[in-house]
Amino acid sequence: MYPTTENRMFILAINIIIIIVAADVVQCGIPWKAEKHKGTEKKHERLLNQTHEYGPKIRAIFLGDSITEGWLYNGHKVWEQFYKTCNAFNYGIGGDRTEHVLWRIENGEFDNIQPSVIVLMIGTNNIHCNTATDIAKGIKVILNELQTKMNRSKILLLSVFPRGGDIMDKNVAAINRIIQNYHDNSHVFYLDVTNSFEHSRGKVVDELYIEDHLHLTEKGYEMWNKVMENEFFQLLNQ
Ligand SMILES: *[C@@H]1O[C@H](CO)[C@@H](O)[C@H](O)[C@H]1NC(C)=O
Ligand SMILES: *[C@@H]1O[C@H](CO)[C@@H](O)[C@H](O)[C@H]1NC(C)=O
Repeated sequence: MYPTTENRMFILAINIIIIIVAADVVQCGIPWKAEKHKGTEKKHERLLNQTHEYGPKIRAIFLGDSITEGWLYNGHKVWEQFYKTCNAFNYGIGGDRTEHVLWRIENGEFDNIQPSVIVLMIGTNNIHCNTATDIAKGIKVILNELQTKMNRSKILLLSVFPRGGDIMDKNVAAINRIIQNYHDNSHVFYLDVTNSFEHSRGKVVDELYIEDHLHLTEKGYEMWNKVMENEFFQLLNQ
């Protein structure tokens, strides 16, 4: 039996409604145009306070989304052991996309501080919204704005972490292929973590990830530290 024209129209209408509802939930932006992340006002205020309170004591910042924010949770033990003691501070906000990080840079979170090292990992939340090329452009603008604001800081740009599933991971790899060229090895450095977090394309190392194959377990943060610590501490102590 073939669907009647009326049925087809009905199915089409339902699909359009689903698309509109989904778009409303995601509210995609332009990766290189600063945009306030609605619903994270408290977190932003807490980070402004952190900057004001610690100011010149801040030697390193970790900037990114929920995966960075997770240093406060699943990564807590590793953080205490390796990063807290060297005055590193967490500036991760869950759900952040590149445009949100830009907004935070332009709205006070990094005013009047000059950390030695900025660890940046961002872009995975843009994948639902934007092409790899556009996401990479957003990351480029973030690097420029960070360098302008904190011109004595070294930036350690990390590859976007692998994600489970072929389509997701293809997008991650496409972003990384572009941003791997963003380093100059004098102010911006690049570290690819991919091989430590996946067996092969789209097949992440299970024990490093929680079930969503996006966020990390405690072992995941141990691995993050393991792949990064040499370069991080070298940059910190230069
Ligand atoms: C930020 O600091 C102000 C002033 O000390 C305080 O009133 C406010 O509660 C703090 N906000 C957060 C989210 O911690
Ligand atoms: C860094 O920024 C400060 C303050 O904006 C400025 O005075 C200084 O000239 C800048 N240094 C370089 C190397 O751009």
